[in-house]
Amino acid sequence: MNQNEQKKAAAERAVAYVEEGQVLGVGTGSTVDFFIDALAGAGLRIPACVSSSERSSKRLQERGFRILDPNEIDGIGVYVDGADEIDPGFNMIKGGGGALTREKILASMAKKYVCIADGSKAVRILGHFPLPVEVIPMAVHAVARRLEAMGGRPVLRDFTTDNGCKILDVHGLFIQDPAGLEREMNQIPGVVTVGLFAQRKADVLLLGTDEGVVEST
Ligand code: 5RP
Repeated sequence: MNQNEQKKAAAERAVAYVEEGQVLGVGTGSTVDFFIDALAGAGLRIPACVSSSERSSKRLQERGFRILDPNEIDGIGVYVDGADEIDPGFNMIKGGGGALTREKILASMAKKYVCIADGSKAVRILGHFPLPVEVIPMAVHAVARRLEAMGGRPVLRDFTTDNGCKILDVHGLFIQDPAGLEREMNQIPGVVTVGLFAQRKADVLLLGTDEGVVEST
């Protein structure tokens, strides 16, 4: 299977985790796009979805799903989203698609986080993929200096998030303590969200591989 076929297979498997009659959390990215398409074909009874981006909300609405604002609900049963990297402890780097803040909010509201990914996303140590950090625009330079002092090489992405903020992609990190680094970066004034998902990590991983979808908990 090529990378797209692996994404599609993992996404299709995730439909089995959807709980009928409950609000569903939906993330962002090309793997999630496959999931939304599979969900639309499954004909399940889903009262509404909350989504982590304008992009996913639009795709869901085009397929007939109702979108709620997270402020209208108390929690989410299942949240389905992708990852840029995931390690054996299910710590993740996310935010390649720029939706990390809303993704972290929805993940924090969910009882179960189902991560869907192609095989290239499984790594031993996080950090080969540049770590996205969402930043308040006026703090970009100050935050970049702090990230350099921590040993990273921040590069400003030519992109504005759905929240009107900027993203620094931090290269050159070798992340041996994901939860510690997440805590440390969260303390920098001007940082909105660090794309490390270690304090709230995935509960289930559906990984597309050449041998099929490998399911782990
Ligand atoms: C978006 C994300 C995505 O989950 C991540 O970038 C994976 O994307 P894809 O499914 O396209 O490989 O974190 O902010």
